[in-house]
Amino acid sequence: MAHATFPDPLVASGPKAVSGMTTANAPFIDDALAHGELFIEQPYGLYTESNHEAWSRLYARMRPVWERHANEAFLRGIDSLCLKLDRVPRLVEVNRFLSPLTGFRAKAVAGYVPSFLFFDCLRKREFPTTVTIRRGDRLDYLPEPDIFHDIAGHVPMHTDRAFADTLVRFGECAHTGAEIARSIRDAGERRETLKSIIRAMARFFWFTVEFGLMRSRDGLRVYGSGLLSSFGEIQHAVESPRVQRYPLQLEWAVNQGFAIDRYQPVLFVVEGFEHLYEMVGRMEQWLKKGKLNNVAPGEPIAADADVDSFLMAL
Ligand SMILES: [Fe+2]
Repeated sequence: MAHATFPDPLVASGPKAVSGMTTANAPFIDDALAHGELFIEQPYGLYTESNHEAWSRLYARMRPVWERHANEAFLRGIDSLCLKLDRVPRLVEVNRFLSPLTGFRAKAVAGYVPSFLFFDCLRKREFPTTVTIRRGDRLDYLPEPDIFHDIAGHVPMHTDRAFADTLVRFGECAHTGAEIARSIRDAGERRETLKSIIRAMARFFWFTVEFGLMRSRDGLRVYGSGLLSSFGEIQHAVESPRVQRYPLQLEWAVNQGFAIDRYQPVLFVVEGFEHLYEMVGRMEQWLKKGKLNNVAPGEPIAADADVDSFLMAL
């Protein structure tokens, strides 16, 4: 899709240099995917001035909202990353500040990372990170992740030790899920079981890492990255009477469907990251007992690529 760009002075001229790196149009990403390359180097020189300007505007308008609604670990984290306000971040620079704190690092990807691979990256303290950015005229609504969601929404949380350990524990759950699948002989039943496990894990991840709320001295605060990167939804999530907020319950969250194209009507609250870490541990226990082998049908639907990613891990 065509959009206005300005040549990046750091890049030699050429068709790719002026195409930029938006979620809607990034020839570099298209080429990588066409060659089967999922894990890539961030092609920093391809960002145009309009890409940097989009980052700058996104960051500037979120900063005061974070002060009001983000949890303390996020606020500490985003300061410790020393992000430049007016430029798209370089992942190598982000990692220079992040890795010494928790061992995590942002790892550039060209597109969707199938479920097992994604969780396995977390287990290795690698965070698959989108490197494209939304268009400057579409700052508000974006169904897919972009670098603002991943770096400004997720990565500050990865500076917190307990939260980082929780992500690793999600990764361990994926390995447990693969082990369960291995023990099922019938190929059809194995596939259906994996679909259920993936659905359960995706829901639990969604209602915590992406859209979680936390109790604090100052009332409810946000730690979920989907909310932390959404100018429209973050305040709505904390304050609107149209949102139902409940203490996090594993049995509910793994059976609760969700839609990605609207504000969430149901959100779950944790007491702290130790609490969340324990809950992911409980999820692993449930996996081992087979309690997630047949969770409620509905969204999200596990794609074949997600199921295959687990099968390939066997
Ligand atoms: Fe996310």
